[in-house]
Amino acid sequence: MSTPDTAVSHLLDVYPYLPFQPVSGEGVFLSDGKRRVIDFYGGHAVAGLGYAHPDVLRTLAEQARQLFFQSNAVALAVREEAARKLVAFAPPGLDRVFFTNSGAEANENALRIACRLTGRTKILAMEHGFHGRTAAAAAVTWSSSGKWYGFPRTPFDVDFIPRNDPDAARRMIDASVGAVILEPVQGQAGAVALDPAVIRAISAACREHGALLIADEIQSGMGRCGAPFAIELAGAGVEPDMLTAAKSLAAGFPCGALLMREAIAGQLKHGDLGTTFGGGPIASALIATVIDVIERDRLIDNVRALSREIVDAMPLGPVESVQGAGFLLGLRCRRSAREMLCELLDRGILVGTSADAHVIRLLPPLILERSHVHDLLNALADIR
Ligand SMILES: Cc1ncc(COP(=O)(O)O)c(C=O)c1O
Repeated sequence: MSTPDTAVSHLLDVYPYLPFQPVSGEGVFLSDGKRRVIDFYGGHAVAGLGYAHPDVLRTLAEQARQLFFQSNAVALAVREEAARKLVAFAPPGLDRVFFTNSGAEANENALRIACRLTGRTKILAMEHGFHGRTAAAAAVTWSSSGKWYGFPRTPFDVDFIPRNDPDAARRMIDASVGAVILEPVQGQAGAVALDPAVIRAISAACREHGALLIADEIQSGMGRCGAPFAIELAGAGVEPDMLTAAKSLAAGFPCGALLMREAIAGQLKHGDLGTTFGGGPIASALIATVIDVIERDRLIDNVRALSREIVDAMPLGPVESVQGAGFLLGLRCRRSAREMLCELLDRGILVGTSADAHVIRLLPPLILERSHVHDLLNALADIR
């Protein structure tokens, strides 16, 4: 990975930069001013509609002209409309929304609510899960205590359920557990889809013991996994009490959302949650547009069809196997993921890495086309 010229940079040197410096983007392409690459990384799953999408640009300009910002001190029709569309897009029963600025903030509030409403002090998460870098979100992130975003103490007791062990899940969930938080498809771990049987076991045990189920769909949601939200792929009977979304929710404009059941929302009162920027007019208008475009252009069908083409083409070149769902795919390679990233970039394809040193992650925009998939497959076939 290349590092910036720290001699002239005033930014903290906390990121290993990708060896590509984009200056513009259009559709699924990024350009560094000299050459274009196909963006299979999507700005870390954020560019769900790619770059310079005409509907996004129109909404942004119109809303900015009409009302650039107002806080939650006032009711806004545009915020109500975003919530209405998001609830209709989400799994049934998640009827109430609290908008935030980021994914971690949405998770932070979900965990706060779980502790408060259950009166319990223990939260369970999944091994290898990632939920963000704020105090509560970091506490439920696998191995965070050994990383830079680990705090000296967690704000509640935490334990981690082995990834694909329904019996362990049943054993661990009891009346002391306030909530279980999980990513239906673990992003940072390398696009690992949890076994639907485990998700169903967790959901049933939560219901039995009065623990809340929180689906973190910050990376896996908004159509990326071939359904509006990936928890729906676990089958009937899995009913999260809360669900968090962010990343591509507003096509790259910073925002997050926490959805919950009426039974939870009804117990919250004025002052229990708060944020200055969350649910601002521009984020709200863009959320509504993103959902409109996904539905109008049948982008979830596109994700399913093109994902199938990628999966069916594996193994290929240095790729031994494929994991994940939809456009949240992990390609397990014989070569290191970092080497693969550079080899693919040389061939005009930008991909992501993951916590697994041999898995490259594909998180392309939902507007990807068949020709781009063919370019990816040709590039992979070309690598030894
Ligand atoms: C599954 C998941 N949860 C939470 C987060 C944190 O979101 P944010 O960076 O917007 O705070 C991320 C970010 O990568 C994520 O992938």
